[in-house]
Amino acid sequence: MGILVARTRQELRAMIGSLKSTLEDAGLRSSVGFVPTMGALHEGHATLIKKSSKENSITVVSVFVNPKQFAAHEDLDKYPRTFEADCELCLKAGAQIVFAPTPEAMYPDDFKTKISVDEMSQVMCGAHRPDHFTGVCTVVLLLLNFVAADRAYFGLKDYQQFAIISRMTQDIVHPTRIIGVTTVREEDGLALSSRNRYMDATARAAAACIPKSLRAAAEVFLSGETNAPAVLLAAREVLNSVSEFELQYCELRNAKNLTEVEARITHESVLAVAGFVQNADGVKTRLIDNVILTHDPDRLESLLDFVRLGTAVK
Ligand code: PAJ
Repeated sequence: MGILVARTRQELRAMIGSLKSTLEDAGLRSSVGFVPTMGALHEGHATLIKKSSKENSITVVSVFVNPKQFAAHEDLDKYPRTFEADCELCLKAGAQIVFAPTPEAMYPDDFKTKISVDEMSQVMCGAHRPDHFTGVCTVVLLLLNFVAADRAYFGLKDYQQFAIISRMTQDIVHPTRIIGVTTVREEDGLALSSRNRYMDATARAAAACIPKSLRAAAEVFLSGETNAPAVLLAAREVLNSVSEFELQYCELRNAKNLTEVEARITHESVLAVAGFVQNADGVKTRLIDNVILTHDPDRLESLLDFVRLGTAVK
């Protein structure tokens, strides 16, 4: 069977309902996994979809470039749109349904509501993109309500997004369980991103300093260092050594509530970096990445993998 494409939430509900009843008629239990995306899909997205299809009998992927999370000067109009290839990737990765609504289907003319999560949305990327996470939370809550999934999958590459959505669903007691998925990287450690295709060779070379800086900090942490400034310094030294990289922030934050870790690292923390690289023609690309600094056995393996670059796409 090909991939099913729903354009409205009514079509989506009908498709999910019919797949569920086919499974239930055959005596099988059904569960729904959901992967929200903005399209221009790559192996990072594919990993989320594969995990969902392994853990659920039905997987829905949304492809929607959400205007509410872009500021006026950002790349909404030139955000890459590759719908045919996206559907192909979804099918190969094991999804059954692609939900691709128009902006009007998501936000009717009289739509007035904003969903926001205090404090966590104002720091890190939020300090530089003021309404971004309100746009993200608004669309994600709508999508979660439309799909009514058992589980929804988010990449840890966008760690702040994952932490905010987890907070939001916990606060409002949303029934969908939020699952974080380890970042998928290139051979040199650069996190896959739909925006990577904006970079030319010069920018791409400069971008490599981001994973390098995170690895340097992770190594210091794993060697037993618990002093936050010392761990941050290891990352900043790498970032500052590449003059083509324009740093926006490099911060150490509590992994649950995103408060700043200023002295000792006593709880699971996230070291997050954001900055710009520039093409020869002056076009800039904003990149973000992070590493979770943990001794929790459940997460330690991914940290060690990152230091050894075991999660790279071959
Ligand atoms: P988008 O940037 O398309 O990302 C969709 C999902 O893929 C996010 O959960 C993101 O963290 C994950 N992802 C992207 N690159 C990844 C990588 N290299 N490894 C693992 N996961 C990766 O994030 C959004 O869209 C939007 O904000 C959205 C949640 C869809 C709301 O509009």
